[in-house]
Amino acid sequence: MKIAVAGTGYAGLVTAVCLAKIGHTVTCVDVDKEKINMLKKLKCPIYEDGLEELMVQCKNDIFYTTEYAEAYKNCNVIFIGVGTPEKEDGSANLEYVYKVCDEIKSCSRSDKVIVVKSTVPIGTNKKLELYMNNNSKYKFHFVSNPEFLSQGTAVRDTLNASRIVVGTNDNYSRKIMEELYRPLTKSPYNVPYLSMNRESAEMVKYASNDFLALKISYINEIANICEKTGANIDDVALSMGYDDRIGKKFLKAGMGYGGSCFPKDTKALYYLAKNLGYELKTVSSAIEVNLYQKQKLINKAKEDFGSLENKKVAVLGLSFKPGTDDLRESPAIDNVNMLLDYGAVVNVYDPISIDKFKKIYKNKINYYHNIDDTIKDCDFVFIITEWKEIVEYDLNKYKDLMNTAVVYDGRNCYNLDEVLEAGIKYYSIGR
Ligand code: UGA
Repeated sequence: MKIAVAGTGYAGLVTAVCLAKIGHTVTCVDVDKEKINMLKKLKCPIYEDGLEELMVQCKNDIFYTTEYAEAYKNCNVIFIGVGTPEKEDGSANLEYVYKVCDEIKSCSRSDKVIVVKSTVPIGTNKKLELYMNNNSKYKFHFVSNPEFLSQGTAVRDTLNASRIVVGTNDNYSRKIMEELYRPLTKSPYNVPYLSMNRESAEMVKYASNDFLALKISYINEIANICEKTGANIDDVALSMGYDDRIGKKFLKAGMGYGGSCFPKDTKALYYLAKNLGYELKTVSSAIEVNLYQKQKLINKAKEDFGSLENKKVAVLGLSFKPGTDDLRESPAIDNVNMLLDYGAVVNVYDPISIDKFKKIYKNKINYYHNIDDTIKDCDFVFIITEWKEIVEYDLNKYKDLMNTAVVYDGRNCYNLDEVLEAGIKYYSIGR
């Protein structure tokens, strides 16, 4: 099939490359010239394991352009994968989705199936279809096809997806979507294919992300009680996970979730429900717990040190999770802001997102490319992201290199006996 994909962010680009991999001819459209030029040279603009290799492998079936008219005119299926960022009131900003729709309408010379991959509030596909078919010579069929990939494992999550969810409103687009995804539903991929109405598909996305956010906030609250009772959250979570009904994943206690999805999608569903006259109490609690959790290390440091003025602090790990250079809603941002407000001197290290961090904080903090230099002569350390190099760091060096070996670990990276043996004053979450 000939497919166009609007937007070359995580959802758009990974979808495009994976669609090419399963035999379709795909044209990626983006307004960002710099990005498109990189892609044309087969350089991946985002840090994502395996994506560039797949781009190279599929290079004969995937094209990149800023000329939307050319791309949309020649295909009958168009995926929308542009961002739906959070507005000030927590609702989703659909400006970019509407912009792409206007562009599609302006250059269409035939009927189109428009597949919305972007995370949009429930009811959006219906609204978009009405908007596009008003005074139109051609028919636009809208399909909801939410994305479930995680950053860092995006290619694997797409080709070996847990499920493909497709919401349609008519037989024509239902058949097109079945045909489009058929290669993924067969061996070797065997991905389950779930067909439903568009509102349900839109809801699956929010309900899934918000459930995972809730699961994290729940285990974080249990961790907070573990701290007060002498229980160890690692043992508790591991044992809970053996129950298939609970499951082992997303039970890792820490300093809260970040990223471009959970913080945004929890607020968006809460806002949507509120507008319908319903208060989504579980989701609002997950949001509240997460805000509290992000401040745990700084509160503990203040308790221990009193004033943080002129204290020299090393922040290890900046991205919102390992395997990505994405800083959106990363607890590193909240914590560095608070440390600066309290007058601390801040050194930071991250294996890949240092340059992005520099763009935000410029000369307000100090940047390093290895852990040794970052912690040298520091009064305490904050661990924000559980990168492999941080987890595997030689614990003895904290004592050797720091002014005082005090480590506040927001990701439970180290074994409690080993830190004790290394003579570190250590605080982690729920242990
Ligand atoms: C999330 C979902 O996992 C994907 O299924 C979804 O497609 C995606 O959002 C999206 O909506 O686009 P992602 O934001 O890439 O994916 O990251 P996750 O791996 O889900 O992690 C989110 C945050 O939760 C991270 O800050 C991570 O550190 C934190 N987390 C995760 C925990 O604190 N504990 C856990 O046990 C798991």
